[in-house]
Order: sequence, then C-alpha cells, then structure tokens
Amino acid sequence: MKPADISTKIFLDSGDPKETEVVKSVLGWLDGQTTNPTLLARNPAVKQMAENQALSEAELEDAYRQIIERINKLIPGGDISIEVYADAFTPAEQMVDQSRRFAKWADNPYIKLPITSAGIEAAQQLLQDGIKVNMTLCFSQEQAAAVYTATAGLSGGNIFISPFVGRLDDRGVDGLSLVFNIQKMLKDTDGHLQVLAASIRSVEHLSILLETQVDAVTVPAKVLLEWDKAGRPIGTTRRKANLTPLPYQEFDLRSEWKSFNINHSLTDIGLEKFAADWQSLIVAKN
Ligand code: G3P
Repeated sequence: MKPADISTKIFLDSGDPKETEVVKSVLGWLDGQTTNPTLLARNPAVKQMAENQALSEAELEDAYRQIIERINKLIPGGDISIEVYADAFTPAEQMVDQSRRFAKWADNPYIKLPITSAGIEAAQQLLQDGIKVNMTLCFSQEQAAAVYTATAGLSGGNIFISPFVGRLDDRGVDGLSLVFNIQKMLKDTDGHLQVLAASIRSVEHLSILLETQVDAVTVPAKVLLEWDKAGRPIGTTRRKANLTPLPYQEFDLRSEWKSFNINHSLTDIGLEKFAADWQSLIVAKN
C-alpha cells in the first residue's frame, strides 16, 4: 500500500509490463505508468517481433494496444499515458484520430501529445471530448504557460505537463529548477494543469521531487528499485551543485496561448528521436 506521507503520484516510466509487475510487487503500489515510442521500441517482445520481420503500422499499433491492456490490468484504475506518433509536421487532426483509438485501451488513459502548435490544438479538441492529456517534451516555463492558458476552462484537472529533468541536466542546466519554476507559476492557479516530472535519472531526483510534493513523477524501473533499496528516501539526498538553475519568469497567464514562444530545440530533438524509434520498427506493407 502507498505510504501516507507520499502525496506525489508515482508512475513507472516503461513500455514493458514485466517491469510493471516487478516494480509493483517490490513497492507494493504504483499510481500509473507512462509510455512513449522509445520505450515501446525497447520492449523485448516488440524488439523481437520487429527483428523477425519489420511491422506494419497496424501491427505496431496492435502490439502497443496489447501492452497498454496488460499494464491496465496490472494497475487497475491507474493513470496510464499513451503517446501518439507525431513528428514536427504531424497535423492536429492526425493526432486526434490516433488519440480517439488509443483512449479506448485503458480505463484511465492520458494521451501524450507533444508541445507543438498542432499538439496543443489536438489537446484542446480532445479535452472538449472529455479525453485527458499529458503534454510532453516540456523544456521551458514558457511552454508550460502556453499549455496552461490553452487549456484553461476545458477540463476539471485532467491535464499533465511533463517537464524533462534529465535531458536538461545533460546540457548542464538544472532540470529540477524547471519543475520548481512551473510549480511556482501554477501555485495559485485553478489546478487544472498538474506537473508530472519526467526524464528522471536518479534516486536524488526522485527524493527531491517527493519532498517538493510535485503532483506526479514518472520514473524508470531501475531508479524505483534503487530508491526502494536505499530505504525510500524523501528529500534526504543533496543536489549536485554543478548545474545552472533556470531563472523564474513572470508570465501573464491570462494571455492568449499563441502569444507565448513554445519553441525549444530539445522538444524538436525529442520529437525526432521518438519518430525515428517508431519508424525503426515499421515498414510499409501495403
Ligand atoms: O518520460 C519521459 C522519459 O521517458 C524520457 O526519459 O531518460 O529518455 O530523458 P529520458
């Protein structure tokens, strides 16, 4: 059972239901799971299938559906994120079509969409239809401001934004500072946008995020198992000092979302990688 002193939702960041089983049995609970095309490509069964014979798009989607259905059985009622296939040019309509199919795969699905203009427009349409979303590949506070204003009034607290901590750390920027800045910006708002810290690489990241009571965190199996082994620390480890924190920025959250700059080079790189991993599994069979 989940300890009462942990308010943060803890999700497993994995495309492999076997990891779900292991982590759930070690921790005793999981609040959900997040998946993405890279994690799907790493799933041993999917890898094997693609190695034997490259998959058609329909076959890959079917494999993804089966994986999500297994995860859904292992975490009944959990928040399960399913990511659309999208590159920088994918139009909103195409994302919406995929999302409507994907949203049927779990009891409590969150459709993961990239923070591009098309991704935000797709989110607006889906929220209007009652489909929950997780806006991914967030690397700036301004992107979070845009998502906040674009989705205001469209949902009753059914939106996650996923700042990627580790990928900023990789560039010498303190990824945790992005999470803290977004938390601060959203502190006195209506709560319709929740912060889901992603790209977690260490027990240190996790323990600090639990201490700051971020709404949710998604964590690879390896880190969750290490955290358990370390006695499940909450805020007991020190942060590395050699990363440059991002400054807090003041934004007017009543502004039109299109007035914000949502571009970030890491979002572009992330989209390219997701698209390449997805494409590596498929071949046109028609
Ligand atoms: O949830 C997003 C996560 O899978 C990305 O992690 O380690 O590839 O930056 P990473």
